[in-house]
Amino acid sequence: MDDRPRVFVTRVIPDEGLAPIRASCVVDVWMEDWPPPREILLERVAGRAGILTLLTDRVDDELLDAAGPGLRVVANFAVGFDNIDLAACARRGIAVGNTPGVLTESTADLAWALILAVTRRVAEGDRYVRSGSWRTWGPMLLLGTDVHGSTLGIVGFGRIGQAVARRAAGFGMTVLYHQRHRASESIEADLGARFVTLEELFELSDIVSIHVPLTADTHHLIDAAALARMRPAAVLINTSRGPIVDGAALAAALGEGSIGGAGLDVTDPEPIDPDDPLLRLPNCLIVPHIASATRATRGRMAAMAAANLLAGVRGEPLPTPVELPTIDG
Ligand code: DGY
Repeated sequence: MDDRPRVFVTRVIPDEGLAPIRASCVVDVWMEDWPPPREILLERVAGRAGILTLLTDRVDDELLDAAGPGLRVVANFAVGFDNIDLAACARRGIAVGNTPGVLTESTADLAWALILAVTRRVAEGDRYVRSGSWRTWGPMLLLGTDVHGSTLGIVGFGRIGQAVARRAAGFGMTVLYHQRHRASESIEADLGARFVTLEELFELSDIVSIHVPLTADTHHLIDAAALARMRPAAVLINTSRGPIVDGAALAAALGEGSIGGAGLDVTDPEPIDPDDPLLRLPNCLIVPHIASATRATRGRMAAMAAANLLAGVRGEPLPTPVELPTIDG
């Protein structure tokens, strides 16, 4: 009998991750392009020593019970881990890993793709051309706002927020940031970034880019009141998690022109409801959660998630563990 650890991988991931897992485990991989339906997920995790999950898989008491007492590790194929109930894992002594660092630059690149596309109305221009509306060069056609020389406000100044700030230097921007703890003087000096309150950031920025994790504190951090503080031509960029922005409030602000535009890599829910009013707004650009979607980055994420999975099933410390809450008793 094959006594290698039995693991479940909830989607096909790049070979950089699948190959090492296949080499040392008995692997069950969900082969479809969509997430396993909940009842199938619960069935397939049963008796596994490790599970490699995606942000689309909810890991909670129900799933951990379905996996059973042999489960040692949940390796998330993402830096974010809001899909995982960390307390439920901590209560069972199950290690959790994520993929920090390797997707920082790609995510910052996509935030910038959205910044430029929304301010310069790139998607609107493309739709205009394809619809056959383009008749001549027009002095008033598709006027946007300048990025160079404007003010960028970064909410959340961790790895990704800082990578977004670094790119702003080339555009001669003023960079403001807000997070719970002020960054060191050397980081501020290096990135030319100034710490401000959240209210100041909303009021002073031409572009507001969100880089905080989704927690109870950040849920609807961008609500109607936050949007009302922003400048009339302000552009909101979200490459973090959809529920950080109140979608209905954003649609209202964009619709009445109280802010200028939005670029969203993430929505609430995902995929976005086809009837969501955001989809009817020309000044809202939405892409399907692709910030880390480059071949190289997804390969590195796969390798890192696999390394966590393999360490976990062997009972070794994970290379990139998520800190679990302390459980009393
Ligand atoms: C993450 O890693 O959390 C992203 O949202 C997907 O790459």
